[in-house]
Amino acid sequence: MAEEKKWVRLVTAKTPTNIAVIKYWGKRDEALILAINDSISVTLDPNHLCTTTTVAVSPAFQQDRMWLNGKEISLAGDRYQNCLREIRKRACDVEEEDKGIKIAKKDWESLHVHIASYNNFPTAAGLASSAAGLACLAKLMNVKEDQGQLSAIARQGSGSACRSLYGGFVKWIMGNSEDGSDSLAVQVTDEKHWDDLVILIAVVSSRQKETSSTSGMRESVETSLLLKHRAQEIVPKRIIQMEEAIKTKDFPAFARLACADSNQFHAVCLDTTPPIFYMNDTSHRIISIVEKWNLAEGTPQVAYTFDAGPNAVLIARDRKAASLLLQRMLFYFPPGAGADLNSYVLGDESILQDAG
Ligand code: ADP
Ligand code: DP6
Ligand code: CO
Repeated sequence: MAEEKKWVRLVTAKTPTNIAVIKYWGKRDEALILAINDSISVTLDPNHLCTTTTVAVSPAFQQDRMWLNGKEISLAGDRYQNCLREIRKRACDVEEEDKGIKIAKKDWESLHVHIASYNNFPTAAGLASSAAGLACLAKLMNVKEDQGQLSAIARQGSGSACRSLYGGFVKWIMGNSEDGSDSLAVQVTDEKHWDDLVILIAVVSSRQKETSSTSGMRESVETSLLLKHRAQEIVPKRIIQMEEAIKTKDFPAFARLACADSNQFHAVCLDTTPPIFYMNDTSHRIISIVEKWNLAEGTPQVAYTFDAGPNAVLIARDRKAASLLLQRMLFYFPPGAGADLNSYVLGDESILQDAG
């Protein structure tokens, strides 16, 4: 018996983050995580902003434990318990004879896990760490489900996480059912469809936000009339227009919708009682710089969007616009000259040279 307890099985997965261009903000069911409106996001390159999670399972473990970026965190909240319960329910038999590992489906109920997760970008700072993190967790523990079912598990950990299981542009359909069976993420277009786009992340602050997305949206649902209007009247139309803009690669329409939706989401935060401020002065300066440049060009070169945090996600229409954008950003926020902007994260390093 003692011999049997020696094994530890390790599985590692990596999952990219996603940034919403039509925002999810508000739940109609807190327990199942069902949204009050559809949303659309773009999944970032898995080699850049991503989460890497390792799950260890062993009969020697006495309880479930989790470390996030090297620090132990509590697994007590619904976020993790829902995810772990769903994964356990679906985990399959494992047999690795050479290592002496044999796990029957029913053993997963009593086996404990140790989870270590690392985000290679700021956590809880509005760059969708919960999306990458919970989507990654859902992929582990020998679950042989299809992407759709994994996405539904991830959704019960963090709403935005259901979109990170697919690449390219992804829509989370809110659904109407009470049990959440029709609340699903679907791919709008794959990652190759619009590969002219270049995404630059301007890290304004890596500090953890004061109001988590979960509690921020709860307060907005309870107090903001603007959110009701947005969810019922504005977003349904924008979703149709955004899907069309993505499918036809209509950058001016895409930029107009993405910027307007980001601004309306932050207006909802201001319309919440007490108001929530996710953006700061530097975020506002970035918006002004992009707006003025787009106006001067006569047609949008760059779209901006801010999730629940001060950090800017800038989407340039092509490489040329990206290199000009970087030049401008380096001019207005020279590295080392002040603490306004901490760093830039860019998919393709060669654009840095173009901007030289
Ligand atoms: P963000 O804007 O980064 O998504 P949220 O407020 O939505 O911020 O969520 C932050 C929370 O998500 C963290 O406090 C933590 O509970 C959870 N989280 C972040 N990264 C991970 C991860 N890699 N694995 C598991 N949970 C994570
Ligand atoms: C502003 O998915 O982080 O990033 O479902 O409570 O975990 P929970 O919230 P979360 O909210 C994301 C909000 C957003 C917009 C978006 O990603 O659509
Ligand atoms: Co989040």
